[in-house]
Amino acid sequence: MIERVLDGRTVCICAGSGGVGKTTTAAAIGLGMAARGRRVAVLTIDPARRLADALGLTELGNEARLVDAGAEGELWALTLDAKRTFDELVELHAPDAATRDAVLGNRIYQELSRAVAGSQEYMAMEKLYDLHHEGGFDLLVLDTPPTRSALDFLDAPADLTAFIDSRTFRVLTAPTRFGMRLFGRGGGLALSALERATGVRLLQDLSEFFTSFGTMSEGFRRRADAVDRLLAGDDTSFVLVTAPRRDAVEEAIFFRERLDEAGMPFGGVVANRVHAIPAEATAAGLAGPLGEELARRVEADLGDQRRLSERDRRTLAALRRLLSGRPMIQIPELDRDVHDLDGLRALEPHLFGGAA
Ligand SMILES: Nc1ncnc2c1ncn2[C@@H]1O[C@H](COP(=O)(O)OP(=O)(O)OP(=O)(O)O)[C@@H](O)[C@H]1O
Ligand SMILES: [Mg+2]
Repeated sequence: MIERVLDGRTVCICAGSGGVGKTTTAAAIGLGMAARGRRVAVLTIDPARRLADALGLTELGNEARLVDAGAEGELWALTLDAKRTFDELVELHAPDAATRDAVLGNRIYQELSRAVAGSQEYMAMEKLYDLHHEGGFDLLVLDTPPTRSALDFLDAPADLTAFIDSRTFRVLTAPTRFGMRLFGRGGGLALSALERATGVRLLQDLSEFFTSFGTMSEGFRRRADAVDRLLAGDDTSFVLVTAPRRDAVEEAIFFRERLDEAGMPFGGVVANRVHAIPAEATAAGLAGPLGEELARRVEADLGDQRRLSERDRRTLAALRRLLSGRPMIQIPELDRDVHDLDGLRALEPHLFGGAA
C-alpha cells in the first residue's frame, strides 16, 4: 500500500501533528523499503532515545550512518542537527572565508541559528535538498519536527525568503551606520549605555552580523526557492500521519488543504494507533473451552474494542473524505512501544500490505 504512495517518488515526507507517530512511520517505511532492495536514507528528528540507539544514532551529526538491519537493500539513518546544517549553509553561501568566519563566530548568529523560530523545520528541508541533490539514494524519507502546528514546516522556506525580502532585513543589511538606522540616535545611545553597563557588545555584534549576512541573502533565497520546487515537484510525496484523535485529524485535514493550495503532492494518509477489530471477531462458543466467567470477560473486552474501533472510524471519517483516491493506511495500536528494529518490522505488514 505504501508502495503505491511512493510509486516513482524519491522523497517521502512524513508530516503530522505532535506525537502521532511520524518518526516511527518514517523509520518503518525506510526499513520496509530497504527490505525490498532499495537504498534508503531516513532523516529523523529527535527520535526517542531507544529508537535512536536501534538505528545507531547515538549522537547528533549530519552524517548518514548505515543501519545494521540485515536488509536486502540499505537503510541509512541520520538525525538532523539544525545548528550544524545552518553552519554548513553559511559556509556554502559566504563569498569568502572572512565573511564566513565573521558570521559563524558572531554571537547573534550563534543565538539565531539555535533559536530562530522555524529554523529546525527549515534546516530539515535544507538537508533533504542536499541529499536529493547529491543523489545516491533511491528514496529519502523525511521525518518532521514536533511542531506545535505541522504547518510551520511547510511555511519554513517561504518564511525565510520573506524575511530576506523584507524591508527590515534590507534596512538592517544596508551598508550604512547600522546603529543609527535601527535605533535612531536615542535608541543607539540607550543601547550603548546598556552595553557599557553589561559589557555585552550587542550593537556592534548586531551590526557586524547583518552586514556580513546581507552579502549571503541572495544565495539563501535561491536555495529556499529550490527547496520549494523540490517539495512541489514530481519527486515528492507527502504522507500525512495522524492518530485517530480529533485534534490530530483536524490538523491533518488542514494540512491536506494546504498541500493543495501550495500545489504540493499529497500521497496518502497513515492513520496510526487505530483500534481495529475484525468484523468477524466473536466471543461466541468460548464458554466451552474457557468456562463461563472467562468467556464473559472476553465478551466484555470485545465489546470495548468494538466501541473504540467504531469511535476511531468516526473520527477518521472526515479525513477519509479528502483522500481524492489516495489510500488511508491503518496501523493498529500495538500493545507495546515501537523502539527497536523488531518493533518497526511489526508495522511493516500494515504499511506494505499483507496484514491480517
Ligand atoms: N502503532 C503504535 N502502537 C503503539 N505505540 C506506538 C505506535 N506508533 C508509535 N508508537 C509510540 O508512540 C510514541 C510516539 O511515536 P513517535 O515518536 O513516532 O511520534 P512523533 O509523531 O514522531 O512524535 P513527535 O511529534 O514528538 O516527534 C513512541 O513511543 C512510539 O513508540
Ligand atoms: Mg518525532
